[in-house]
Amino acid sequence: MPGANIIGTGSSVPKRILSNKDLETIMNTSDEWITRRTGIKERRISTKGRNENTADLATGASLKALEMAGLSPESLDMVVVGTVTPDRQFPSTACMVQAALGADNATAFDVSAGCSGFLYALSTVDNAIQCGNCKTALVIGVERLSSIINWHDRGTAVLLGDGAGAVVVAANKKKKGVLSTHLRSDGKLWDLLYSSDGNTYLPTALKTIRLKPYLLKMKGNPLFKRAIECMATITKEALEHNSLKSEDIRLVVPHQANIRIIWGLAKSLGIPMERVYTNIHKYGNTSSATIPIALDEANREGLLVKGDHVLLVSFGAGLTWGASILKWTT
Ligand code: UT7
Repeated sequence: MPGANIIGTGSSVPKRILSNKDLETIMNTSDEWITRRTGIKERRISTKGRNENTADLATGASLKALEMAGLSPESLDMVVVGTVTPDRQFPSTACMVQAALGADNATAFDVSAGCSGFLYALSTVDNAIQCGNCKTALVIGVERLSSIINWHDRGTAVLLGDGAGAVVVAANKKKKGVLSTHLRSDGKLWDLLYSSDGNTYLPTALKTIRLKPYLLKMKGNPLFKRAIECMATITKEALEHNSLKSEDIRLVVPHQANIRIIWGLAKSLGIPMERVYTNIHKYGNTSSATIPIALDEANREGLLVKGDHVLLVSFGAGLTWGASILKWTT
């Protein structure tokens, strides 16, 4: 069976920086609280009219990943996007990206799996490659969470940001870069993190849609506790599946929701923070985009070396969580 290998990475974030100090001027919060409780110092927020919509950010990240891979958009068989903040309910963000890139030979679709969207998308592509249904694919994680931030809720508004990350994945009969991906969901706990309203009762939604935008709602404390537990358990499953130990992992690229969650995960796995990549201080929580943005930054900083084992691990709305172990092959 052919293996899936990441041969290019890219990311794109909006230009506008919103710092904790800026937030102090618009809500009852402080740089001190946000930094101490979350590790976030600033986040990127897209600006209308600047080509920073969800599909724009995803396209920007994809172009960089394709450039690194040395491939043209026409060579892509699949474009799969993880997002919960598409520009439109349909068509999919993936189809918008396909058009913007001119990836005319690709099958394009979105995956909705909260902050685990990128790992769910990567797993879908990995399976397609192993089945022989796909040779080259783009896997993207992108969010414009600013479109659903409730600026009156300091408990969530300070956490979120916008951005996109992408990887080019290529089939190779001799190399297996994605060793395995392990995914879980628990829909019983959907109400710990969700967008308000929705269109279940269409007439009401149509009447109130202007007055009640879709806003992110979150119960932070119970999520916090489950996040560490779920990510640690799924990582142990992934390590065991590949007969690896924590010390075999050269770099952990975790979902960036809260620095204290990342510390807890590292402690639970017995992995020192020097081997955990974090950029939450710059971007906050960008949901599906945190892992591919961090992976791209780590790659461009030269932290990913051929032969290294890399752990990607996520947790988010759904609930969904997952872990993927890569052997870096480029
Ligand atoms: O991305 C996928 C999933 N997301 C997560 O896994 C997020 C998990 N949860 C968390 O990261 C944390 O629970 C939060 C960062 C959301 C909250 O941190 P916390 O340490 O759990 O704070 P808390 O909600 O228990 O609130 C503590 C205090 C409260 O005040 P009182 O009731 O003790 O007087 C809050 O009102 O902090 C207050 N508070 C704030 N103060 C200043 C909450 N938000 C803020 C704020 N600025 N922005």
